Amino acid sequence: MKHLLDSSFSGTLKVPGDKSITHRALMFGALAKGTTHIHLPLHSEDTRRTMECMRALGAEIEENAEEWVVTSKGHSSLHAPDETLYTGNSGTTTRLITGLIAGLGLRAEIEGDASIAKRPMDRIQRPLAEMGADIALKDEKYPPITIKPAALSPITYTMPIASAQVKSAILLASLFTDGDTVIHEPSPSRNHTEIMLRQFGADIASENGTITLAGGNELNASDVTVPGDISSAAFPIVLAVLKPGSSITIDNVSLNETRSGILDVLEMMGADVTVEQTSQEGEALGRIHAAYTPELKGFEISGDIIPRLIDEIPILALLAAYSNEACTVRGAHELRFKETDRIRAVIDELSRFGIRFTEYDDGFTVHPGQVDVMENTPVKGYNDHRIIMMLIVFSIISNTPLEIDDISAIDISYPGFMEDLEALRKDA
Ligand code: S3P
Repeated sequence: MKHLLDSSFSGTLKVPGDKSITHRALMFGALAKGTTHIHLPLHSEDTRRTMECMRALGAEIEENAEEWVVTSKGHSSLHAPDETLYTGNSGTTTRLITGLIAGLGLRAEIEGDASIAKRPMDRIQRPLAEMGADIALKDEKYPPITIKPAALSPITYTMPIASAQVKSAILLASLFTDGDTVIHEPSPSRNHTEIMLRQFGADIASENGTITLAGGNELNASDVTVPGDISSAAFPIVLAVLKPGSSITIDNVSLNETRSGILDVLEMMGADVTVEQTSQEGEALGRIHAAYTPELKGFEISGDIIPRLIDEIPILALLAAYSNEACTVRGAHELRFKETDRIRAVIDELSRFGIRFTEYDDGFTVHPGQVDVMENTPVKGYNDHRIIMMLIVFSIISNTPLEIDDISAIDISYPGFMEDLEALRKDA
């Protein structure tokens, strides 16, 4: 990695496919009757977990480099898995398949890695139990999750938090119930489930924070082309903005409004970032150009923008450390329940380098000031892909090798991250 430090970065990059969309395409493909082609899926640890779970339920999945092909005889052909389903590090797999399996009325046991074992599942268990599901959790909160067959009915549910995983678990569970399920969201969370379910033939409408799904329709197989993941693109974008002499273009990336909050923050900061939308059909798609920006303004964010950039907050904290003004994130208590407590992780690791934070229960302020980076300082990645990639970008922009304890978790969402940075290295 040392040779990345003294370089600037330029050229065009296609980041890997969107993780949220790939998970959903595998699940809906398994539920739908027929053959679903998933073009440009994300090949990663997390999406592999969903693939294996769908196979264990009876879907056939063929893997080619650029395309996965899911073949299923429809939801009624899926069966209880023979063994405990293993969801690894993936919160999306764990929560969504709980809804899916409860909806199918099957028996299953679900467990994941040490991080999943600490992530709250009562947030899905509560609405699913209201629908009639029989779901038991360890200490009434955590995996392993035990699901027993039960008949479900539609519900009307007001979500206490904006969470696409909770929303999607309820929608998956309601697909084959008899009647309308209505969900009220406090703020708009990512809407890939709604967009893709409509494409697969579900009767679903979404308006002013209320989603209504009429259960009982068979899903029809459909083809999905997965756009590049803006949450992965965020790392090279921030690298280009902070590294003198850099200028990069990310092609074919998702610009879905429910995911693009980071672009709004880059604009608030006056970063040299331009966006060109190339398609608005279903999932919006386009090109992002980002270049070195010597002076960055501060920002204050809270409320509806938070779910639109929830996974980008670690890399935004790094951007904030190089701003000339204070930067504040509030209303992001959810960060404490991600792969690790990302508020703690960001503050603990970056404050080793003189970056000054004020911590709140639901966010932080980063104060402007000198960043002092000492060579080979040991830092921790907490086995959290987004913390690790943030630390790698930090090491490159500060021109300082850091000793990150373990970077293997990059493969959760962005295998090929280091190779992509290498390809953008100016004199590579
Ligand atoms: C995801 C939803 C978000 C996000 C996660 C992926 C999804 O989680 O942080 O990385 O694919 O639905 P929450 O729904 O828990 O906020």
